[in-house]
Amino acid sequence: MPTVQLTDPQTVTEAELTTLYDAVGWSAYTREPAMLLAAVRGSHRVALARAEGVLVGLARTISDAVTIVYLQDVLVHPHWQRRGLGRRLVQEVLAADPHVRQRVLLTDADPAQRAFYTALGFTETHDHDPELRAFVQLTV
Ligand SMILES: CC(C)(COP(=O)(O)OP(=O)(O)OC[C@H]1O[C@@H](n2cnc3c(N)ncnc32)[C@H](O)[C@@H]1OP(=O)(O)O)[C@@H](O)C(=O)NCCC(=O)NCCS
Repeated sequence: MPTVQLTDPQTVTEAELTTLYDAVGWSAYTREPAMLLAAVRGSHRVALARAEGVLVGLARTISDAVTIVYLQDVLVHPHWQRRGLGRRLVQEVLAADPHVRQRVLLTDADPAQRAFYTALGFTETHDHDPELRAFVQLTV
């Protein structure tokens, strides 16, 4: 089973990031590899999964470390999906900021992603009690 650990994002390479992000079809990121590297290196925390040294999963957060943690990307190489790796990555990256109450994320309206995040204890804002609203503005 791959190892999962918090890693200094400055040690991650552009080549291994593009290989992993390409493997899950996230071409919007891999079209701009330098931007992808800057995004990962500029993250608050990054948890990586490695199998015999090869990068097979990643979860990263953006945060002020006090009031909010934003879970930005969670991805697992297709070969390793449905083996608990996504769960371990999210647990690892969030455990590093245990006192931050507000954990948020934005994702596609895909049933598989809803199943994944609800399995991890997240609630869609419209199902939350008391009711919450989420707003987003995507540019470009
Ligand atoms: C979403 C993703 C990260 C999940 O990673 P994973 O390692 O496969 O997930 P896990 O094995 O830890 O799953 C934990 C639980 O989530 C749920 N789950 C995960 N994937 C699911 C799917 N495709 N369909 C239904 N439930 C799913 C299950 O309850 C699962 O527990 P179980 O396997 O014991 O039933 C992975 O599918 C992925 O990388 N997808 C492409 C990128 C992406 O869409 N990322 C999320 C948006 S940021």
